[in-house]
Amino acid sequence: MISTPLHIEEKQTALRNDAEPIIEVTHLQKAFGSNEVLKDFNLKVFPAENVVVMGKSGIGKTVLIKCIIGLIKPDAGTLRVFGEDILVMKQKELDDLRMRIGFVFQSSALYDSMTIRENLEFPLRRKHHITVKINIEEKVREVLRNVGLEHTIDLMPSELSGGMRKRIGIARSLVLDPEIVLYDEPTTGLDPITSGEITDLILDVQKKYNTASIIITHDVELAKRVSSHIVFLSDGIAYAEGKYEDIIKIEDPIVKPFFVR
Ligand SMILES: Nc1ncnc2c1ncn2[C@@H]1O[C@H](COP(=O)(O)OP(=O)(O)OP(=O)(O)O)[C@@H](O)[C@H]1O
Ligand SMILES: [Mg+2]
Repeated sequence: MISTPLHIEEKQTALRNDAEPIIEVTHLQKAFGSNEVLKDFNLKVFPAENVVVMGKSGIGKTVLIKCIIGLIKPDAGTLRVFGEDILVMKQKELDDLRMRIGFVFQSSALYDSMTIRENLEFPLRRKHHITVKINIEEKVREVLRNVGLEHTIDLMPSELSGGMRKRIGIARSLVLDPEIVLYDEPTTGLDPITSGEITDLILDVQKKYNTASIIITHDVELAKRVSSHIVFLSDGIAYAEGKYEDIIKIEDPIVKPFFVR
């Protein structure tokens, strides 16, 4: 049986519906064998919004964003990104679409045998097939400056702290000037100060690049500071959604424990 979503703020949803969504997920279903992860999941992300997705571990948050960039194929439902149906796209179209989306992996997913410079050059070279060193160098330095780590350009990932690696993961997602950035637990495992700095960085990125974002997190402080809208994933559906101020007031045994400190 599928749970019924808690509808907490019909008015807010009506307001958001005035614009065209940049990401639209409708009736999404994904199972792995008998493990039904997404049952009837719906989500809209509007331009310049930061939508935070919360929910307990193993509930399907990473699966959701992997579906959105075409890394996992759903069993049913529709997925529209920039107004295009990504489920009917050919590989080349999907590759082009991915160029417009930055993805910050749950693990930083840097190539350990490459320097920071090489890690950041990688997506640029794939996109442009350019050999003009100077443009690439400038772009790499620019994104590194934006995350405050230009001095690490010639270091190896193993020489950086966990927080620095997270920042480099964010820098790498920015080298192609994305219109959407998807963050998978950008502050997990970091101390409160470093988490706060990553939060500032996410806000800076949104301002500077005018991106729409989905941010998966358990970090209440991050959710509070960056979210335009929060979607609470439980039992394969968008169980609760609304603004932070409204979500924290929900007296529900699934939602409330996330916000009790
Ligand atoms: N490629 C896969 N093959 C089989 N099962 C998978 C695969 N990817 C994810 N799953 C399963 O889907 C479920 C949801 O996984 P997912 O990684 O989306 O959780 P999550 O909400 O991101 O959790 P966490 O907060 O711990 O990162 C889990 O039961 C997981 O085992
Ligand atoms: Mg995950």
